[in-house]
Amino acid sequence: MKKSIVITGGAGFIGSHVVRLFTTKYPDYTIINVDALTYAGNLENLIDIEKSPNYFFEKVNILDPGALKTVFEKYSVTDVIHLAAESHVDRSILSPMDFIYTNVVGTANLLNVAKEFWKETLAEHRFYHVSTDEVYGTLGDTDLFTETTPYSPNSPYSASKAASDHFVRAYGETYHLPFVITNCSNNYGPNHFPEKLIPLFINNIINNKPLPVYGKGNNTRDWLFVIDHARAIDTVFHHGADKETYNVGGFNEWKNLDLVKLLCKLMDEKLGRTPGTSEGLIAYVKDRPGHDLRYAIDATKINRELGWKPSVTFEEGLSLTIDWYLQNQQWLQHVTSGNYQHYYETQYTNR
Ligand code: NAD
Ligand code: TYD
Repeated sequence: MKKSIVITGGAGFIGSHVVRLFTTKYPDYTIINVDALTYAGNLENLIDIEKSPNYFFEKVNILDPGALKTVFEKYSVTDVIHLAAESHVDRSILSPMDFIYTNVVGTANLLNVAKEFWKETLAEHRFYHVSTDEVYGTLGDTDLFTETTPYSPNSPYSASKAASDHFVRAYGETYHLPFVITNCSNNYGPNHFPEKLIPLFINNIINNKPLPVYGKGNNTRDWLFVIDHARAIDTVFHHGADKETYNVGGFNEWKNLDLVKLLCKLMDEKLGRTPGTSEGLIAYVKDRPGHDLRYAIDATKINRELGWKPSVTFEEGLSLTIDWYLQNQQWLQHVTSGNYQHYYETQYTNR
């Protein structure tokens, strides 16, 4: 059967890399990017492939089941790769309901439409749900998240993603909807919206603005280059076992403060500034409420069973990322105009 794949959230950070990979690598597939174009969705991310004959864009909100059904009918959709979500923890603290609607209700809408549309041929299809390691909660100093770590989400964002994972699993068990889930660690790379740590700090360094480190900067994250995440999604979509979960990570843990210092050093070099200039911008601010101390993924299952592993080192990926932002300042200017200013003031003033 010729594949006709809906990729939700394809105008966002990770989604745009997944859309690009699938559109260029599989010219026989029809790729339909379904995205509501929220503040985080930007079709500029896909300018290089938007004219490909196998690529289509539909401006649809996953909260609208009627519009989703129309897309399924129009393109005879065979598979879904679901990335559309509200994705920023700090925003989930400011407005939790947006996360409950899009991440929980939106995912349930998509599950219902897929289950109904595929009901005569269920076994021939796949619903791929892209999730996060944050559903597992926080870690002590040495342990790792595995696929069997109990869910223990601490933020409205991670709770909404955990709920969506449970719904996907439940539709698999109850209605036999074929599914696969991946839980990935923190991504970084080109096209990352400058509200998350790495792109925010790159943007602030370029503009000589303070670098707001939460608390003492002791929190640890496991960072993965976004193109390696897209490669993992390709691998699991094609070769992952039905009803399985795979953890995806970079084997690359960094304490926030160490990461920020590395970023400052690389930025000073690339901008031709005196060493130490960017570090001088570090400003310690009030900690995030419910701030998870440490995330670290054990990604041995996907490596052992499917042969996936990261392809770039952190130093390579970070250097490529900084170069992309320096060469794409117009992109940065576009996404940081308008509502971004309002968010920035709400989040960082009087912190
Ligand atoms: P993002 O915020 O950059 O992009 C989200 C996209 O979804 C945007 O294009 C937005 O317009 C779209 N969207 C939001 N609400 C929508 C709605 N109601 N209907 C249709 N489209 C909507 O997010 P991202 O960082 O690319 O994350 C993508 C997925 O990967 C999310 O499901 C996220 O939970 C997951 N994930 C992200 C990370 C990470 O580090 N960023 C890590 C692991 C998993
Ligand atoms: P973030 O990029 O928001 O990803 P997540 O919270 O999903 O892991 O944040 C990464 C880490 O950086 C996290 O520990 C919070 C911290 N952080 C700051 O110290 N300052 C900031 O301005 C931001 C956005 C994040």
